[in-house]
Amino acid sequence: MIAQLQAVVGPSFVFTDAETRSDYGHDETEDYNFPASVVVKPATPEEIATILKFANQWNVPVTPIGGRTGLSGGALPIHAGIALSMERFDKIIHIDEQNLQVLVEPGVITHTLREAVNAKGLFYPPDPSSLGSCFIGGNVSENAGGARAVKYGVTKDYVLNLEVVLPSGEIVWTGANTLKNSTGYNLTQLMVGSEGTLGIITKIVMKLLPANRHNILMLVPFYDGTQACEAVSQIFKAGIVPSALEFMERDAIDWTMRFIDGVNVPIKHGIEAHLLIEVDGNYPDVLFSEAEKITEVLKQFQIDEILFADTEDYKNALWKLRRAVGEAVKSNSIYKEEDTVVPRYELPTLLKGIKAIGEKYGFKSVCYGHAGDGNLHVNIVKGEMSDEAWKTEVPKGIREIFELTVSLKGTLSGEHGIGYVQKNYMDIAFSPTSLNLMKGIKDLFDPNGILNPGKVLPDRLFL
Ligand code: LAC
Ligand code: ZN
Repeated sequence: MIAQLQAVVGPSFVFTDAETRSDYGHDETEDYNFPASVVVKPATPEEIATILKFANQWNVPVTPIGGRTGLSGGALPIHAGIALSMERFDKIIHIDEQNLQVLVEPGVITHTLREAVNAKGLFYPPDPSSLGSCFIGGNVSENAGGARAVKYGVTKDYVLNLEVVLPSGEIVWTGANTLKNSTGYNLTQLMVGSEGTLGIITKIVMKLLPANRHNILMLVPFYDGTQACEAVSQIFKAGIVPSALEFMERDAIDWTMRFIDGVNVPIKHGIEAHLLIEVDGNYPDVLFSEAEKITEVLKQFQIDEILFADTEDYKNALWKLRRAVGEAVKSNSIYKEEDTVVPRYELPTLLKGIKAIGEKYGFKSVCYGHAGDGNLHVNIVKGEMSDEAWKTEVPKGIREIFELTVSLKGTLSGEHGIGYVQKNYMDIAFSPTSLNLMKGIKDLFDPNGILNPGKVLPDRLFL
């Protein structure tokens, strides 16, 4: 098999050494590592097609791998087999300035794409915290979000058309390069967020926006964390759509300031949480009046002095702080991260519920996230908990947290995906009928189950 893979991609792109297999055996999901049997780095859709045809003959699993920054284990080769790295698909093929679109390969780093279109006065808004190392293909596969989603939407809102290698080895385009499309079933959006289980994306057509020129960024300290959550929906009610509206509990900021250099925000005793709020646009006057309106709304809550980031450096420092929260928590303790999402107005109820569930099962949580989207990242930290309690109590608590999100008309994941770590909670969000529909779709695309097996769908289906 190795010899045949070498014949397809060239011997220098097939790796069987322990170090490489281990490198590609993990992403950023907790501390999992599942070394693949072999790491393969193809360069063309045709090479991938041949590999998938072989995989069907050999009955060997294939796991597509991007920038390995995922947080739900979508790219973990949990059944070993072939780890298929997309890193050689690293070209921005064409920035179409007439139509405001870009044709890009999946292995381009998201930040590189944003900078390249920005150089032409264009804007690709989605900005997951891992943007400096994640791949755009991984963003599409997980339907990644980020801080700007509250105004600009998530990755799916920018995907127009995809070239995909199906598990059968056939190569298809899913749609058209148009902003509107009511033509048949939406195969494009079926692929988006399918976590590499239905096909391997090899080209992406994305829409772009004109770049806007100004923004105002403010950091608001709240004495009461629940009030910070309550303020979120009030800002929208006042008629403002911020370009970012992020929530951070006190621990999230404290731990991150210790973890990174060069950012120091003085935080008063008694402050429980912060909102980081940005408005953007082309006209400074409009932004000033929006910021003023937001300040008016915030006056009803117990807040300390609002900090306005008045230089580019200060803005960058605050964003650096915000983006590093996940890594900072990870460096602090063994943890589990949930990506809960509810309709925005339910956020205070969600936060209170999570804390009460933590008390019941004996765990501490550090919460932060995209409050404007009702999307709260819940980091359950092990801290002093016994190994036994970590193993037995935490999963019960997580199940209860998800039951709470669903009872609030929310769901399990807003932007990180289900992947490996949340799949056995899917019964909370979907009926057996819906899960069986999903299983039917998977079987239609991949009858032999060779592509990224053991992801998304629960281990036991209730057939
Ligand atoms: C963030 C990642 C963890 O919001 O989604 O920082
Ligand atoms: Zn996030």
